[in-house]
Amino acid sequence: MNQTSISIQEAMNKGKGTVSVHGWVHRERGSNKLKFIILRDSTTTIQCVLERKDFDKKWEEIDHIQVETSMRITGDIKKDDRAPTGYEIHVTGYEIVGPSENFPIGKDQSVEFLADNRHLWLRSTRMMAILKVRSTVFGAIHEYFRNNGFYEYTSPIFQAVQAEGGAELFHVDYFGKKDVFLAQTWQLYAEPAVFSLENIYTVAPSFRAEKSKTSRHLTEYWHAEMEISWNQFADIMNHGEKLLKHIVTKVLQENKPELALLQRDLKKLEPTIKKPFMRMTYTEALKILKEKCKMKVEWGKDLRTIEEENLTKLYDVPVIVTHYPKKVKAFYMMEDPTNPDVVEGCDFLAPEGHGEIIGGSQREHDLEEIKKRLQEQGEDPSQYEFYLDTRRYGSVPHGGFGMGVERVVKWVCGLDNIKDAIPFPRTMERYKP
Ligand code: 4AD
Ligand code: MG
Repeated sequence: MNQTSISIQEAMNKGKGTVSVHGWVHRERGSNKLKFIILRDSTTTIQCVLERKDFDKKWEEIDHIQVETSMRITGDIKKDDRAPTGYEIHVTGYEIVGPSENFPIGKDQSVEFLADNRHLWLRSTRMMAILKVRSTVFGAIHEYFRNNGFYEYTSPIFQAVQAEGGAELFHVDYFGKKDVFLAQTWQLYAEPAVFSLENIYTVAPSFRAEKSKTSRHLTEYWHAEMEISWNQFADIMNHGEKLLKHIVTKVLQENKPELALLQRDLKKLEPTIKKPFMRMTYTEALKILKEKCKMKVEWGKDLRTIEEENLTKLYDVPVIVTHYPKKVKAFYMMEDPTNPDVVEGCDFLAPEGHGEIIGGSQREHDLEEIKKRLQEQGEDPSQYEFYLDTRRYGSVPHGGFGMGVERVVKWVCGLDNIKDAIPFPRTMERYKP
């Protein structure tokens, strides 16, 4: 065992000669004379064969090797069309690093069981594939913003104001004080910083006390948010569209094997990078829902999941719905200068019924107007003094958006449930392991 290990993928690239690899036993089967081990590392898997004639004295140990045992293996690699990944290592030496007995996860286990054993289920090829796509998505977000002149900026997670509705706040016992919550968004602490850095972004956890059990809500999710200044409303949508195009481009470049494993139809993703997104106002959306989907929505009501689903199924690219009624949207959204009933806000709805992936808006930058909006929505403006100060000293047009990273991963991977888009999902019912 004096050769240094290389990854299984590197060993396969080498294709012949002696190699040393390390990993975990993904599958094993054996007979009196032969032991087959499928070894897994983070790159891929490879079939390894041990022959009794080479290891007669150690055969009992070899015969007992079970799945998830970690090992180092040295041997001769060669192409073999019968092997699952096209190569085989004929083992000449091995070392058991960490034995594993009776690994709890086998075939056909319930969703609940897999959730209880999430820490072990992360080793499945399915979770590995999703986590690799997730890593690409995070990388692409940072890359997009950094390449476009944004500073990375962070906001506190303990916050004393709400921005997205009091009903979904997680209260924290902060040394006996009760008016402290976990961040729902960075936004109210990000807006003050555009008066300094102008264009900023973050990728950070957000928390929502969602009481609903849906396939798209987590209580803790990763939130990619941006805020820009001196801009127009359209700039926000343009950045959102370019960001999503960049993410999907990167995933298609880097994660074809993972998408294949997840049986994701790439044709469903390609229009997103090739074609402009659909843009329509809320009022236009209601008309389309009525005419094409036979769904009647009363003007002024927010779009429900089922309506969003039906709307997005009409197109093969994300749909950006703008100019929602003021009363269904947050207090900080800018009133449309041409129509006081609607706001300059936008929701990006993913194709195939995956729902809202981005929510954004131009921000109301007039001090008196924003105070009025806070009061109308039952808030006490005196609690927002620090925020209102931003409008007192050199207020400028500004705006931004937030993108739910797991929602994007769910869509890009074509997952049924958002829970698989994050390593340890937190929902109303689950906060362990
Ligand atoms: O639409 P939301 O509530 O908007 C905001 O928080 C703004 N302050 C963002 C901003 O302008 N800076 O949330 C933004 C996005 C949604 O579009 C959705 O993708 C995601 O966050 N999201 C969730 N993802 C998973 N689980 C939940 N419970 C989510 N709630 C929102
Ligand atoms: Mg929203």
